Amino acid sequence: MKTEKKLIIANWKANPDSLKMAKDILNQTKKIASKYKNVEVVVCPPVIFLESLKSAARPAVLGSQDIFTESSGAFTGSVGFTALLETKIRYAIIGHSERRATGEDNNLVNKKLKVALANKITPILCIGESKRDANLEYLGFLKNQIIEALKEIPKSQVINIVIAYEPIWAIGAKAKRSAKPSEIEEIVIFIKRVIGDIYKTKSVPPMKILYGASVDNKDAQGILEESGIDGLLVGRASLMPKIFAEIIRIASETQKI
Ligand code: PGA
Repeated sequence: MKTEKKLIIANWKANPDSLKMAKDILNQTKKIASKYKNVEVVVCPPVIFLESLKSAARPAVLGSQDIFTESSGAFTGSVGFTALLETKIRYAIIGHSERRATGEDNNLVNKKLKVALANKITPILCIGESKRDANLEYLGFLKNQIIEALKEIPKSQVINIVIAYEPIWAIGAKAKRSAKPSEIEEIVIFIKRVIGDIYKTKSVPPMKILYGASVDNKDAQGILEESGIDGLLVGRASLMPKIFAEIIRIASETQKI
């Protein structure tokens, strides 16, 4: 990535309930974004709100929560990527576990990454294991997710991909806890090693790596300081402007140790 800015992504999922509420949250979010210029704030609302929000987001930028593999055509219920691009999105979340749970596999994730890259959209590739086991099988699972997702993507393009480590066991209101900085750091090192192996290089392509799963204003600082990440992907807390504002401020003021 060209920019050294920390990346804070708001994943609103299927929230809020109305465009009026979406505008209200976005207005509060962009006010904060304008205060902290060393943070890139990306808001990913439900696709139906994108068109109405596109001229109102700056200095925050918009992203989609997914991208369809086809430009347009006979695909009932889908949004062709040509129409999606009209909304001026700059980022697209790809392979979120909540989409993978509906049957999306690594092969489809790979196709979506290629569509995003071909259209100059920065993909945020989500990976994450559903549980950790003492035999470290989860590392093999993550490695496979990365290898299959990046298949046939050249090194010159992979640097434009952001990877978000989102352990499924830590996502959502039912999760007992967020991952610890040491657990995240282990995966950041692991991701870099896998990328280095894929591209057969010791100088790992300079990709941004984020963490997401139950991040809030209480744990953001520790995670940003101690785990070697370049930003956060925030779900529930991104819908609470005061808490999200705190996370953006912390990202602005925190240096990696
Ligand atoms: P959460 O969601 O912060 O609500 O756990 C994160 C995500 O799924 O991206």
